[in-house]
Amino acid sequence: MTFKINHLLAALLYLVLAGCVTFIGHAQTKEEVAGFTQTYKNQNFEAKVDSIMKLMTLQEKIGQTAMYSGSWDQTGPIIGSNNGKYIREGNMGAMLNAFTVKGTRELQQIAVNETRLGIPLLFGYDVIHGHRTIFPINLGMSTSWDLKMIEESSRIAAEEASAEGLHWTFAPMVDIARDPRWGRVSEGAGEDVYLASQIAKAYVKGFQGDDLSKHNTILACAKHFVAYGAAQAGRDYHTVNMGEDELRNVYLPPFKATVDAGVETFMSAFNELNGIPTSGNKYTLRDILQDEWGFRGFVVSDYTSINEMIQHGFATDSLDAARIGMNAGVDMDMMGSVYRKYLKTLIAEGKVDKALVEDACRRILLAKFKLGLFDDPYRYIDEKREANTKYQPEFLAKAREIAAASLVLLQNKNKALPLSKNTKKIAFIGPLVKDEYDILGNWAAKGDRNGQAVSIFEGVSEYLKPHQILYAKGCDILKEDRSGFTEAIAVSKKADVIVLAMGEGHHMSGEAASRTNLKIPGIQPELIKKIREANPDKKIVLVLMNGRPLNLSDEVNLVDSILEIWFPGTMGGAGVADVLFSAYNPSGKLTMTFPRNVGQVPIYYNMKNTGRPIPEHNPKEDYKSNYIDVPNSPLFPFGHGLSYTTFQYSDLELSSNTLSFSNAITASVTITNSGTMDGHEIVQLYIHDKVGSLTRPVKELKGFQKLFLKKGESKKVTFTISSDDLKFYNNNNQYIAEPGEFEIAIAPSSDFKFKHVFQLN
Ligand code: NOJ
Repeated sequence: MTFKINHLLAALLYLVLAGCVTFIGHAQTKEEVAGFTQTYKNQNFEAKVDSIMKLMTLQEKIGQTAMYSGSWDQTGPIIGSNNGKYIREGNMGAMLNAFTVKGTRELQQIAVNETRLGIPLLFGYDVIHGHRTIFPINLGMSTSWDLKMIEESSRIAAEEASAEGLHWTFAPMVDIARDPRWGRVSEGAGEDVYLASQIAKAYVKGFQGDDLSKHNTILACAKHFVAYGAAQAGRDYHTVNMGEDELRNVYLPPFKATVDAGVETFMSAFNELNGIPTSGNKYTLRDILQDEWGFRGFVVSDYTSINEMIQHGFATDSLDAARIGMNAGVDMDMMGSVYRKYLKTLIAEGKVDKALVEDACRRILLAKFKLGLFDDPYRYIDEKREANTKYQPEFLAKAREIAAASLVLLQNKNKALPLSKNTKKIAFIGPLVKDEYDILGNWAAKGDRNGQAVSIFEGVSEYLKPHQILYAKGCDILKEDRSGFTEAIAVSKKADVIVLAMGEGHHMSGEAASRTNLKIPGIQPELIKKIREANPDKKIVLVLMNGRPLNLSDEVNLVDSILEIWFPGTMGGAGVADVLFSAYNPSGKLTMTFPRNVGQVPIYYNMKNTGRPIPEHNPKEDYKSNYIDVPNSPLFPFGHGLSYTTFQYSDLELSSNTLSFSNAITASVTITNSGTMDGHEIVQLYIHDKVGSLTRPVKELKGFQKLFLKKGESKKVTFTISSDDLKFYNNNNQYIAEPGEFEIAIAPSSDFKFKHVFQLN
């Protein structure tokens, strides 16, 4: 009985509302809602959204701001599921962790057929570095410095994800990360503002393509807004206190870059920033993102991050949390249920302006229009596409290429690498030699860890005959069981060259995976030592799989070569083998500094000088900004990475020593491949603003070019520099360049001394 009365009331209200429609005639049924989009192209989406909103009740508008998790994956604490019920009631606008054609069709059918207005759902998922075909972890891809490849990786990810009904990825993560203790450094592009901003744009372009209404493009999401990567002591979700200088000049720029690239959505973060949780931070969400940057998309909270403002000590209860979140500018509540439950009351009590909820709903509907979901809610749902899209040979070939391009040769003493296919016996030792599980990394979406991934063992088997390969696992990543040591040492003694595949497990980086110890975990370092002791004169190569910079201070003295392979993805083992046997000459360069020990952290190249820098002529001088036990310098600096060939840089030439605000100058060098193998070189432009109204970093990356040079070949590399490249946010939050002297260099890594200057006036 109650049900019927409610229905009747709803129908009456519906008719009243329908009478108010002014756009495209009088829409009275959900068929007409869908009909708004029949002439989809070249239409004014905003006007269409307005028309639909006129049909919606307040609770239906609130419903659009609620997102719940499906059961295809779990990416946060499980909270009871009422999904079918919420969808039917019009109390859900989007779902995460729901995909596959079958699954999304069932859910979409409920939204379209069983709700009053038939507004389609949005399906989102964490497609972080691939969906089925898994690419190297994002930190790894960043070390390729290859924007084209990165864009290709997210294009392929979008192809595969969209073929399984997904409309939206929660990527890219564009948090600057300077503390390797933080487990989520693996998801980002490292420590540098300029490089991370370029990479952020490349991801957005790849995911979103040039036309969101195509069925193979998906919404991107810049996350986590903002300064999440600066968590105190590298502990996940921890407090961030940061001045405006660092916020504006370091942590905000990659987000701004995604807005410039047209990103459609943002995600707020878990951390607080200067005492205000970022999911309730009006200053960052409304004042900066909306007003200063003109962002027109929508902001989703992180997983229950609105509710967590209670634990932060910023909201008294769930109702209060909903009030703060909506007023601050979070448009969609991920898993928190607080918008669904409380927004209506908050509006009635005058604590939330109805216009803000309408604006949130409008932004969410706009995204659905852009995706073409009102045109056809099932446009991403196609059995044939789903069956034929994943793991296409060209996707796998690209994954192999990107894996190889993402590896960083950190050290290569005695030319231990490359390996020769003619070596009689090579021992492969370590817990990661045959691994097909960890190799995909922590956040590998729906990457297949049981059969599809190529292990290092499988990869090298393409280059060697079985009798050339010796193998021993030696130990586990974490277990303290030394029973495999004897066999591993015996195997090592029989070999001509030893390759160790060791590192972190995939679960040791990513969300909630902070570490205070940056050593290679478990008893692996002990095994390395024992193998060296048993083979004092043999070449030993360490192939290191991990999700963050590690402390390798002992290992650099125990092994000849260190090849950093990150978690290289589905085709990882093949890409690694290509580099080991020089089918691909390594070209990756670090995007995060490797410390000498954890006490140096946070350590990054573009630091400030301090008032007491260490004098070059006397590094041990007293009362200087140094440590008494280790040098300030890192073990491996930002930008570092070796090749099997060598590159010579000629002296830098400037087109002029003075730059004006209206003209540009150029800086060039000639790079020569002076070694014996063709290869890529990543050429880096650095500038130092010597005196500023706010102190400036000792050096800042301002450009880079990735070149391919045949052996013996030379190429001139030219960078154009304008006053725009010298801008920063000053104390009044103005983005300006200041006249004065600038140092400049073009270098193979961040480890160099400036020799040239120019003037801006
Ligand atoms: C929490 C993570 O912080 C975020 O990155 C992710 O997108 C959401 N969970 C959804 O899985």
